[in-house]
Amino acid sequence: MKIRTSTLTSFKEKGQRFACLTSYDALTAEIFDQAGIEVILVGDSASNTVLANDGTVPITLDEMLVFGRAVSRTAKSALVVLDMPFGSYEISPTQAVENGIRAMKESGVAALKIEGARIEQIRALVDAGIPVMGHVGFTPQSVHALGGFKVQGRGGAANKVLEDCLAIQAAGAFAVVLEMVPADLAERITKELSIPTIGIGAGNKTDAQILVWTDFAGLGEKSPSFAKQYLNLRGSLLAAAKSYRDEVATGEFPSAEQSFS
Ligand code: KIV
Repeated sequence: MKIRTSTLTSFKEKGQRFACLTSYDALTAEIFDQAGIEVILVGDSASNTVLANDGTVPITLDEMLVFGRAVSRTAKSALVVLDMPFGSYEISPTQAVENGIRAMKESGVAALKIEGARIEQIRALVDAGIPVMGHVGFTPQSVHALGGFKVQGRGGAANKVLEDCLAIQAAGAFAVVLEMVPADLAERITKELSIPTIGIGAGNKTDAQILVWTDFAGLGEKSPSFAKQYLNLRGSLLAAAKSYRDEVATGEFPSAEQSFS
């Protein structure tokens, strides 16, 4: 089944939870799609995980489009969403629409995600026919303005996060990511909204969950405390690379089996 934004709306209506993972390449996109992951986000987390930048601020739209193309060409069922990078939509709704149209045409994804309560930008993108996913709470592109990696929406700040979500929904977004907000606030927002909420570090009462794939697979050297590692890919790759190196050194690889006569 091809997952569309309307499929996610019907999941919310039925109370059916769904899973999202990031992907930036054809190999993982094919595997996650085959596993039935409903949404694949071409996240700007590619900035740190793939491009070795310090944070998501440096990645460009041109770089994001390369990753977006690889994933959208591969995923057959999952809804593929592309993150609009920092600097590609903040200036004005016109800038957002110009870059948004380019992103849709050149990457082939089905929807875009933008961070923050950029209500005019969201409305303008939706009016241009582009499905938009919102993202509130801790928004990594604003890490410097937010004073570092901090939980958002505690105490008196909770109502503002809820109000932002309602405004994002009213502007036409089809879903919203809640990142690093208290679990009870995420539950409250999920009950108030008719669009699905997608949690990351937001407890288990959201409509869906998202993880950065390298965190989920244990590929990086460290991962955030809210992420669960479903395998130790780093350990397996490290051990395999050491075995290969040793076998090359001793001449064990290639054996007759891996040689032509
Ligand atoms: O870029 C990304 O990977 C994200 C997720 C953490 C939601 O925005």
